Amino acid sequence: MNNDLRFTRQCVRYIANFDLSELSIIKTDFLVIGGGAAGFRSAIEAGKHGKTILITKDKLGESNTLYAQGGIAVAKNAGDQVIFHVEDTLKAGDGLCDEVAVKVMVEEGIDRVDELVSWGADFDKHDNKLAFTMEAAHSQRRIIHAKGDATGAETERVLIRKASESNNINFLDRKFVVDLITFEDRCYGAILWDEENSRLSAIIAKATILAAGGLCQIYRHTSNPEVATGDGYAIAYRAGCEMTDMEFVQFHPTTLYVQGAPRFLISEAVRGEGAILVNENGERFMPFYHELAELAPRDVVSRAIVAETTKTNTKCVYLDLRHLDADFIKNRFPTISEKCSNYGIDISKDLIPVQVSAHFMMGGVKTNLNAETNIKGLYACGEVACTGVHGANRLASNSLLESLVFGVRAAKSAVNDIDIEIPNSIFSLKYKREENLSSNIDFNVFRASIQDTMWEKVGIIRNKEQLEEAIAFFDQYGDLNPKARSNFEVQNMLDIAKLIAESALIREESRGAHYRSDYPYQDNDNWNRHIIFARA
Ligand code: SIN
Repeated sequence: MNNDLRFTRQCVRYIANFDLSELSIIKTDFLVIGGGAAGFRSAIEAGKHGKTILITKDKLGESNTLYAQGGIAVAKNAGDQVIFHVEDTLKAGDGLCDEVAVKVMVEEGIDRVDELVSWGADFDKHDNKLAFTMEAAHSQRRIIHAKGDATGAETERVLIRKASESNNINFLDRKFVVDLITFEDRCYGAILWDEENSRLSAIIAKATILAAGGLCQIYRHTSNPEVATGDGYAIAYRAGCEMTDMEFVQFHPTTLYVQGAPRFLISEAVRGEGAILVNENGERFMPFYHELAELAPRDVVSRAIVAETTKTNTKCVYLDLRHLDADFIKNRFPTISEKCSNYGIDISKDLIPVQVSAHFMMGGVKTNLNAETNIKGLYACGEVACTGVHGANRLASNSLLESLVFGVRAAKSAVNDIDIEIPNSIFSLKYKREENLSSNIDFNVFRASIQDTMWEKVGIIRNKEQLEEAIAFFDQYGDLNPKARSNFEVQNMLDIAKLIAESALIREESRGAHYRSDYPYQDNDNWNRHIIFARA
């Protein structure tokens, strides 16, 4: 649709002082930022054509991918077809998917999965053929998985091993990207922070692929690991990228609820294999909310859980697997079984307490089908990108598929930059901040305030008043003057929290994962379009 709504906002360009002529600089052809499926898959492709550096802010492999349980949706099962997978994805996306991008993902996804298998991915089998499970809002059993509920870890293992075989690819771990380097509308790499020696350095690249993952750590409760602080979104936004669909945050209905413990994903595949949801009184409630009951779209199940806990004045609902075969479920979900047993919960005998948690960002850095952003030399893929495949709500297990498909596409685009000349002026680029910035903030306290504000006011159910309160709170802070990795993360969290709250306030309707209690209905006449933000 061409009537997208565009907004600009003032935002600081760089968050650290630097003078590139004084920093240690590494030069490369391709820089990949992020070490999940999208990052590794793009590095493998880019590495065929030139020197590639893949950087991660934490230890290698630590990413949302690593913890993905459910699997990879792929139209390979007998009776399934590309068109069915496309239709399910479009339906979940609630009118905002880019249909061409969806077709690309679903079609090319088949090759990407075959390729993973040929590289040694050990997906679970039934009668020597790939085993397919069911997840919410899929019309077919089309989710492949590995070691029951450790699909992400297996995918990551295979991709890291494949990337390690290339002499052209180097990994740099524990390097935090502070900002992207841009000059005359083109990106030339990134400025890094090395926490070990508290120093800035730079990587100058002909092309940069942003694959820095998700952001759900900006919420108090999340299924995401601690690294998912939204750095990729923030550095892209500050560099001038268009950011779209930022109001669409997916909340996962079933994460383990143990008071005081971080939330832990209980895969939707558990419901796909027959688990039901019951409330405090032991009553099954999902059939009253949706004809697909426990396999209704995630946003429907999430809101039903909120409604049930409000009605019964309790803190959680429960997953009940007790009617399923005990050996089957323990073998099918070994990671979940072990995690629950650490808390004294036997998943075959006990109810599993669950609550809703922030899980996935559908929006992000706006890209076209070739993963190109509006900045030359900068490509985006994986969760940080908004390729248009998820629309207002992501279909379960489409994210690893998207990462693999658009990881390759990003690298193929980046390869076209192999012959560009890096201007000499890049090497003497400097940036000096204004010196009157306030730096009295306690970053740990402020991080928690952002998470609480997002959870309470920009969460599963939103309204004008609360969104305005959140924006007013965030607007009190601008440039925080960060000087350490955890502080840079807080600056990034603040920058993107504002974008999410503002986008959610502007969209005066309910659609997909965005639910406004003051506008509870979908409004196709006015809102079948995207909201796009960019730095002024
Ligand atoms: C899950 O296993 O429920 C999560 C999979 C996904 O988010 O697609």
